[in-house]
Amino acid sequence: MEHKKVQEGSHAAPETYYIAIQKNGPYLVYGKPPINHELLIPDETGWSWSYQQGEKVEDCESPIALCRCGQSKHKPCCDGTHEDVEWDAAETAAKDTIAPQQFTNQDFILNDNKEYCATARFCDGHGDIWHLLQKKELTEGEKNTVKHQGKHCPSGRLRLQNATTGEIYEPKFDPGIGILEDPVLKVSGPIWVKGGIRVQSAGGESYTIRNRVTLCRCGHSSNKPFCDGTHVTICFKDSKFHIDDKVKDVAAQAYEKIKDDM
Ligand code: FES
Repeated sequence: MEHKKVQEGSHAAPETYYIAIQKNGPYLVYGKPPINHELLIPDETGWSWSYQQGEKVEDCESPIALCRCGQSKHKPCCDGTHEDVEWDAAETAAKDTIAPQQFTNQDFILNDNKEYCATARFCDGHGDIWHLLQKKELTEGEKNTVKHQGKHCPSGRLRLQNATTGEIYEPKFDPGIGILEDPVLKVSGPIWVKGGIRVQSAGGESYTIRNRVTLCRCGHSSNKPFCDGTHVTICFKDSKFHIDDKVKDVAAQAYEKIKDDM
């Protein structure tokens, strides 16, 4: 039996939960994890700070197939369009996580796997996390900001450790799936896989199990199956998804604050 690697600080979900990537096809989701739209919500700096749960996704046919080519007319569900359109389904990401770049100060070790970045921008507000870690001494408020930034990165690009005890500050998740929406940049984002759900390649091998993973659903990542932020560049949109006016207003104000830094 294949040995399934689990990233340090993560726990594997029960085996009934897994996502099987289909060759030239969708993500098949097993174990019935809850699937909800989730919005990236900015704070007063304009950068992402929290998530807002949106509508439940319950209209995909069984077995649940989530679109991977980006061209379904019934997103986030697969409607078979992948069979009729041109797209590149090849998985190019390494099955194991690559050794992260490490940034340290006296309080924290930041493990940074850049190739997983989904451009969610939780690392940027209140002084970005890398600049904060360059400070000789952090105030209690700054330490809390660093922890918040590290724990809210959806893709798991950032994993923060206590420099003294080695404790890894991973958020606690039950197995679940978020369909990310980015109202500030007016784009739809990746599939956020939470709680150690195993992702299996079309060839049957498992990717290292991680507590938080973002899977490409626009069809254009160069690091498939993982999102690499290209959905922003191509303005990928799940046109069915409705964002209420209050969130639109907050998002528009946030965009004005960050647009020159994007
Ligand atoms: S969803 Fe992010 S690159 Fe495709």
